[in-house]
Amino acid sequence: MKHQDKAVATAADQASSAETEHAAVADVPPADDAEQHGFDRGEVGAPVWTGDESTAIAVDSTGTTTVLTADTPAPVGDIADAEPIEDEIDADVSEPEVADEFEKPAAPADPAEELTESAEPVVEPPLERTTATPASERPASGFDESTPLARELAEITRRRQLLSSQDLPLPTKTRIFTVANQKGGVGKTTTTVNLAAALARTGARVLVIDLDPQGNASTALGVEHRSETPSVYEVIINDLPMASVVQKSPEFEALYCIPATIHLAGAEIELVSLVAREQRLRSALETFLEESDDAFHYVFIDCPPSLGLLTINAFVAANEVLIPIQCEYYALEGLSQLLNNIQLIERHLNPTLNVSTILLTMYDARTNLANQVVQDVREHFPNEVLQTLIPRSVRISEAPSYGQSVISYDTNSPGSLSYLEAAAEIARRGAPN
Ligand SMILES: Nc1ncnc2c1ncn2[C@@H]1O[C@H](COP(=O)(O)OP(=O)(O)OP(=O)(O)O)[C@@H](O)[C@H]1O
Ligand SMILES: [Mg+2]
Repeated sequence: MKHQDKAVATAADQASSAETEHAAVADVPPADDAEQHGFDRGEVGAPVWTGDESTAIAVDSTGTTTVLTADTPAPVGDIADAEPIEDEIDADVSEPEVADEFEKPAAPADPAEELTESAEPVVEPPLERTTATPASERPASGFDESTPLARELAEITRRRQLLSSQDLPLPTKTRIFTVANQKGGVGKTTTTVNLAAALARTGARVLVIDLDPQGNASTALGVEHRSETPSVYEVIINDLPMASVVQKSPEFEALYCIPATIHLAGAEIELVSLVAREQRLRSALETFLEESDDAFHYVFIDCPPSLGLLTINAFVAANEVLIPIQCEYYALEGLSQLLNNIQLIERHLNPTLNVSTILLTMYDARTNLANQVVQDVREHFPNEVLQTLIPRSVRISEAPSYGQSVISYDTNSPGSLSYLEAAAEIARRGAPN
């Protein structure tokens, strides 16, 4: 991407859309409804898949739980005890006694009240009853799509089916991504870990280099990174070969990680006095990739939230930059500074560097602000932004505490599907020329 002449949205643009956000989110149902109903890990309205992939339990905004299967729309209950609800409803509808279910309240005992009522007759609205769509009329997904919850479930099913029907191309040359944004907390680590896991799941050999002293990527991939563990610090500062510090992630067969320990916090200062201080990661990575028995298809380098020497080492070692942008106020602030730095690296240290990918993260469709950010970013970076948006999702944020990516933690959740879709988009697009 030639980014130098691209304007980024102004804070004023964002501020105007920010005013509407509060009103938009005010209608959102309380998130802990689900917890009251025993779904402590669930999100309101989001289906929770059971072990059997064709069955899900969902909680709607009123806290009502529903069991949905590919064959039968059913109310909540023990799945094993579930009756064929559809037959029951159909039978009820055809029988006249169904009206008993909607009996009007008993007449008041007090005759005075009766008089008042008869003087001013109350017009009651007609009673409505919804019936299940017959199986023959249901869409291909197999779900009755007559409710928003069922429609959402059907959509998830469609996405899963589409993903599983795709064979992703593997790159012929290792694609090395630096995941960078000097803004903190925008989803760099989450994106690194989940894209790496998503690609490893589809058969690619993937290496994650944790270049952040916080060691969050190491945690999320379930690899050891206590202070005494040999890590990327020893690679950069003491010239230890990467092969002696790399660990296999328990997440997926072909997923590896070079961990970061707390020692890396001092590396920024120690690097200053070292020879070829900007090239140290590149040299180590080149040697590692050349000497690996099996070629790696992807390398993702997770950067700290700064533009210091560690991030510069990552830019010099990579071919592509992936910038996660959070769909929030201030999202684009600092982006021009980041692009300017990349341009300097490209000019002086790594002519092959290319900002190939921008991923919008923590998208919340209910806010006008998020939609405004998406629109702005797509307008300014039409070729780089992935079509896939990563939604704000509880599953994504809680997966690292189990030492897992969301891909293995809750494969069928909307957040996991989005990262799988983003990975598929990256694989299909291929490396930029
Ligand atoms: N799509 C998402 N939905 C919900 N929470 C998310 C999502 N993506 C990231 N988070 C959460 O936001 C926080 C910041 O994410 P993350 O650590 O990936 O950002 P970062 O850019 O790597 O941060 P840092 O700059 O500190 O390295 C984390 O708590 C993470 O779990
Ligand atoms: Mg991080």
